[in-house]
Amino acid sequence: MKKTARAHTNIALIKYWGKRDEQLFLPTNSSLSITLDRFYTETSVEFDANLTADRFRLDHAVIEGKEREKVQHFLDKVRRATGETRFAHVESVNHVPTAAGFASSASGYSALAAAAIKAAGQTFTEKELSILARQGSGSASRSVYGGFVEWQKGQLPDGSDSHAIPILNQDEFDLAVLSVEVTTEKKKVLSREGMKRTVETSPFYEGWLKTVDRDLAAIKTAIHARDFRSMGEILEYNALKMHATTLGADPPFMYWQSATLKVMEAVSQLREEGLLAYFTIDAGPNVKVIVEIENEQAVIERLNQIDVVSEIYPCRVGPGITYLD
Ligand code: DP6
Repeated sequence: MKKTARAHTNIALIKYWGKRDEQLFLPTNSSLSITLDRFYTETSVEFDANLTADRFRLDHAVIEGKEREKVQHFLDKVRRATGETRFAHVESVNHVPTAAGFASSASGYSALAAAAIKAAGQTFTEKELSILARQGSGSASRSVYGGFVEWQKGQLPDGSDSHAIPILNQDEFDLAVLSVEVTTEKKKVLSREGMKRTVETSPFYEGWLKTVDRDLAAIKTAIHARDFRSMGEILEYNALKMHATTLGADPPFMYWQSATLKVMEAVSQLREEGLLAYFTIDAGPNVKVIVEIENEQAVIERLNQIDVVSEIYPCRVGPGITYLD
């Protein structure tokens, strides 16, 4: 039977940056994110005995080649986990401005995992779904849950203890996350490739690893205390450290553009004026600005005045996986 699931994207406050096992998507460090309400993927899966390969449609277009193979590879894991033997029709629709750092792989693999398990006639716990989604894209492990979510890296070589856990529910700490777009160009170094190169070659990677646990413990304390200022300081510092590792990679690379820096400078200027806002950046040039609800409009107005800003998408804390049928 055809089953449909929706999963939302997330933005990491403590970044996942580096794998210890590429096949199983096991990270070198734990991470923490906010699930966003505005950006999501809806995916339907239907297994069909008449198919001789998996079929994949994304945003109403048939996808062939590498992208289809990735989906097939992921569905192989689903088949192994469930005993399902048939190939599937997969239909995905992204409600995400993709590329340039508005990643859809988190919502994409989370929705695919949920829909595929249901279509195979099985019921997985959220923990099991997180472990499965992780093996499509690491950050997808976190999109299983809404609210504030930690992905615990785990220790076991089979990955059975590497999954997300909920920290706060969607309605327990209300915040605005402004997705500030400065370009819609496709990013040049994908996160998968960027983190691999950094782990293998950057002398700064060791420094990153040494401090992530401290950042994670401190941000959890701040989140539980609803201490926005501490949370903001930690998340901004953590993002800067992640990006610093890329400058030491061989060959070096950088996700920021001059427009990215302009937004970063504007955010620190806002703080000097007493408007608390903090930025974070993923593997692309666009910026996410975290702000308290009461300051959201004022910050949007100010950021809209920057000439390089093409669009601002205001988001709130969002839900975990939902099923549509
Ligand atoms: C910078 O989850 O996209 O956004 O596991 O290789 O699919 P793969 O990588 P992905 O990496 C996300 C990296 C990041 C930080 C984060 O989301 O934690």
